[in-house]
Amino acid sequence: MAILKILTIPDPILRQKAEPVAKVDAETAQLMRNMLETMYVGGIGLAANQVGVLKRIVTVDISDERDGSKALLMANPEIIWSSDEKFTYKEGCLSVPDSFADVVRPKKIRVKYLNEKNEPKEVEAEDLLSVCIQHEIDHLNGILFIDHLSRLKRNMIVKKVEKTCSRQDQ
Ligand code: NI
Repeated sequence: MAILKILTIPDPILRQKAEPVAKVDAETAQLMRNMLETMYVGGIGLAANQVGVLKRIVTVDISDERDGSKALLMANPEIIWSSDEKFTYKEGCLSVPDSFADVVRPKKIRVKYLNEKNEPKEVEAEDLLSVCIQHEIDHLNGILFIDHLSRLKRNMIVKKVEKTCSRQDQ
């Protein structure tokens, strides 16, 4: 397995739409495992855009174990139902370093996807798992959690990240 480089804003790949995966083959499964290992460095979810790959793949694990046993490796994840009831969570993102803000999303969702063996699966998720899957599917559509905030809050976060990143580049 390998740790992949995570892109941060304002990298344009984060704003592009990822393409569906035709089949989860050995190469795709390997990418999923590499993404999982990369995610375990510091996150509970990761989308392929964040490692520079425009394929509809996400990994998610909100368990305490973080050993892969409870991880979701998803290709072509699609929300097929969401609750009217909402849930608010203070979200962050590996691509928007050191920034957190409350985002309101549907509390429960049902998602269909292909697993690492190319088998069609469905999962029902609520609260944090629901938030995490929705956040990652947003990535596949070029959407970041800061897009759910007011323009004022979004601009504050973007400016802060740009300032920190330019300092690191010097
Ligand atoms: Ni993210």
